[in-house]
Amino acid sequence: MTTDPLGFADEALDALLKEELLRGLTDIESGPGPEVVVGGERLINFSSNNYLGLAEHPALAEATAEAARRWGAGATASRLIVGTHGLVRDLEQRLAILRGTEAALVFPTGYQANLGTVGALMGRGDLIVADKLCHASLIDAARLSGATLRTFAHGDLALLEERLAKHPERGRMLVMTDGVFSMDGDLCHLRDLVEITAHHGALLLVDDAHAVGVLGKTGAGICEHFGIAPPRHLILTATLSKALGSQGGFVCGPRRLTDLLVNRARTFIFTTGLAPPAAAAALAALDVIDREPERRERLSANRERLASALKAKGWDLGGSVTPIIPLMAGTPGAAMALAARLRSNGILGVPIRPPTVPRGASRVRLSVMSTHTDAHLDALIDAVGDV
Ligand SMILES: Cc1ncc(COP(=O)(O)O)c(C=O)c1O
Repeated sequence: MTTDPLGFADEALDALLKEELLRGLTDIESGPGPEVVVGGERLINFSSNNYLGLAEHPALAEATAEAARRWGAGATASRLIVGTHGLVRDLEQRLAILRGTEAALVFPTGYQANLGTVGALMGRGDLIVADKLCHASLIDAARLSGATLRTFAHGDLALLEERLAKHPERGRMLVMTDGVFSMDGDLCHLRDLVEITAHHGALLLVDDAHAVGVLGKTGAGICEHFGIAPPRHLILTATLSKALGSQGGFVCGPRRLTDLLVNRARTFIFTTGLAPPAAAAALAALDVIDREPERRERLSANRERLASALKAKGWDLGGSVTPIIPLMAGTPGAAMALAARLRSNGILGVPIRPPTVPRGASRVRLSVMSTHTDAHLDALIDAVGDV
């Protein structure tokens, strides 16, 4: 008798269903704007990371089309094999200038930027200390690197110091955090983290995926928000795929860091480079961000309007100070019920359940865009209702 080697998948899927944790894919039949068509229904979109509405901006569409016509659709091989396209080189220069660092290196995704960077820097005998709520890609990166991974409770810097102090004799040390926490919308304590890591001789990696284009006077991200020039032990990773409306990831820091990554980051070396149209879209996004600061202003005004209305209705928004606003529900079932209630009122707000968030902390994660109108926000406020 032969057993079905994939038989365990049925059991795993059944278990997920029972725990209300089963996920499936739905079709989206529109662009990624403030209103989307999902399953034939027109819904107001509070589920995207398209914070500035750039993914559907005509300048990005035009740049993408023009790049595809001139240079083709794909990069076809690793940059170490086929070379770096001029658009990618320009993009790296622009990103380094935006972030105030010596250099930048573009990866095919933000996930790969994190994986490759941590893997290139850390290995057996080294210590990584991560905020418990940092993005899954950082946790995966730490596990893959072979370094010892310890976590500290969200924002608990005393515990972080304790962890660092306990391992002075070990190899290199790296502290990892999100700049803006992706499911809570709160910020890391950047100033303290920079000081603590400098004091302990550790590197600091800040994943700024949700801050680029959003935080700071010019949209430069978390450092600009806190008025800090990036020190040389700070590594900033981020994505081109959220506020910048394109696809891809990048790392900013000293030149010797990016030189090392070119030689050591496996997710850079053994993968095809960023497609020229994606680089062109990101460059166009940087132009729009410079040219249209009113997008960031509107985003911030929309966020304030929504947050204060929700607070007035009794919702506890935790530490959220950004366009990411969690509506805490508790159990997966409660989060799904809240999302279903929103949906029946024409609102797309996706339930977030474990393992994306800790058990007991399921929620609907709302994400505000600069392109939401007052009518969109009012519809959401009405649909959410009182706690
Ligand atoms: C904090 C954070 N880091 C990294 C990523 C991964 O970026 P990318 O989608 O470009 O792979 C995401 C989300 O996708 C994120 O939210």
